[in-house]
Amino acid sequence: MIDLLLKNYQEKIDMRLNILIPETSANYKDVVESERYSVFAGGKRIRPILLLEFYKLFGGEDDCAYNFACAVEMIHTYSLIHDDLPCMDNDDLRRGKPSNHIKYGEAMALLAGDALLTESFGVAARTMGISPELVTKAITYLSANSGVSGMIGGQVIDTCTKGEMTEEVLKEMYLLKTGALLKISAVCGAVLAGADENSIKLCETYAEKIGFAFQIIDDILDCSGNEEKLGKRIGSDDKNNKITMVSIYGVEKCRLMAKELTNEALDILDSLNGDTDTLKEITKYLLDREY
Ligand code: IPE
Ligand code: IPE
Ligand code: MG
Ligand code: MG
Ligand code: MG
Repeated sequence: MIDLLLKNYQEKIDMRLNILIPETSANYKDVVESERYSVFAGGKRIRPILLLEFYKLFGGEDDCAYNFACAVEMIHTYSLIHDDLPCMDNDDLRRGKPSNHIKYGEAMALLAGDALLTESFGVAARTMGISPELVTKAITYLSANSGVSGMIGGQVIDTCTKGEMTEEVLKEMYLLKTGALLKISAVCGAVLAGADENSIKLCETYAEKIGFAFQIIDDILDCSGNEEKLGKRIGSDDKNNKITMVSIYGVEKCRLMAKELTNEALDILDSLNGDTDTLKEITKYLLDREY
């Protein structure tokens, strides 16, 4: 049931992304090919799906939010392309394929990431059928939380704080590098649907819980997952001497933490008005995922 739901969403998201990032024969076609290579390599699309579900929960007409949902996926994909570069995690496998820089070279990987990021804001701005005030509010949130006080800030802490990480800083890093894009997904979905401030706050807290849990599960999969299912190399964190929740607490304790955070997130969904059954299924799927 959850598999079918995700598949339906994935197909619609892919169709829209295909329109938003069209193939070209222009002289700069190589960068478009490189963007499309990573965008269509088979990601779970969890961020756009969450955005669309939160949008629906607060009464939005789902097709209107597809551009915004795709913009978030474009930012996410750019973050992965750059995350794999030799100057970052130096990983050669992503979404089951050679990483972007392995296939296209470092310069093109850098530029493909830049292009996805730059174009994402135009895509989000072309959200039709929703009031410009709400779109502007959502874009402001998108910018703040994907920038230095969001995802990029987390990547900076991750990349530059080796060997001297306190648990407090580690948690901040998880909430930023991974939590921020999930927060964007839940909050922008709610904002675009015109949700009230109190509900938006609850969406933010929900996303912080699943964001922290999501990175803990990612770390668990990095040391005990199946490379083929995962589509990424296992042991990347170890190779890079990363301090993670798993390196501090071990897999078993981390599983319990992720479960606890997921339960807290489910409680928040319960406290929201409306039918949150699908969001609950997605939340549980994120905990149990194998890739
Ligand atoms: C991977 O995100 C990067 C992290 C934030 C841990 P996903 O696990 O959502 O990757 P895709 O999009 O499915 O490839
Ligand atoms: C990355 O965390 C989060 C990003 C913002 C890209 P990781 O470095 O653990 O993600 P993976 O394991 O490479 O997907
Ligand atoms: Mg990384
Ligand atoms: Mg990485
Ligand atoms: Mg990882």
